[in-house]
Amino acid sequence: MHFIEEIIAWYLINKRDLPWRNTRDPYIIWLSEIILQQTRVEQGLPYFERFLDRYPTIAHFAAANEDEILNLWQGLGYYSRGRNMHKTSKIVMEEYGGYFPNRYDDLLKLKGVGEYTAAAISSFSAGEAKAVVDGNVFRLLSRFFGLRDVINSPQGKRAFTELANEVINKHDPGTSNQAMMEFGAKVCKPRNPDCIVCPLNQQCFALRNDMITVLPVKKKA
Ligand code: ADE
Repeated sequence: MHFIEEIIAWYLINKRDLPWRNTRDPYIIWLSEIILQQTRVEQGLPYFERFLDRYPTIAHFAAANEDEILNLWQGLGYYSRGRNMHKTSKIVMEEYGGYFPNRYDDLLKLKGVGEYTAAAISSFSAGEAKAVVDGNVFRLLSRFFGLRDVINSPQGKRAFTELANEVINKHDPGTSNQAMMEFGAKVCKPRNPDCIVCPLNQQCFALRNDMITVLPVKKKA
């Protein structure tokens, strides 16, 4: 099996049952992805459930007042995320007739939605073949393929995004992206990765060259 097929096979057996993985509703995926920016899954999960409970659709979200949203946001930090979400929800009501966009190019126009979030929403909800590139993906690709570009440089980000878009499974981009993130979080971890049980350990560049601790390369700010 090739790289991405191994990752997906591992994912289908080992994935956590997270609520945003059982939907293709772009509003629900947007909600989860914005909450999970700079927030761990365990911490974000109860917030996601409270928000979805209170605002089951984009129309509910847009009709809320901002203080109520920021109140629910308490404890997550980076309050600009909550404010941006409220602005975005109103724009979606006005300009998209309440239908949350699910195409990459439309999503990029929304406030608070960057390349990462646009790739996540468009792949999970519309099956668009856009690779998500987060810390997990940098680490996994860097180690397995031996990519030594500096991850926190524009050039490095370009190189990793290009590789991620080459390896993505075009038949099921959403599952492919979820699998990369989950594998990076649970097996190819930053410290003490589980190389012994890793299904890719025979072909991993970093493991074969004793470079697990030096990849990915990050420059101090
Ligand atoms: N972190 C950010 N997005 C995620 C997702 N969709 N699943 C698990 N962890 C995530």
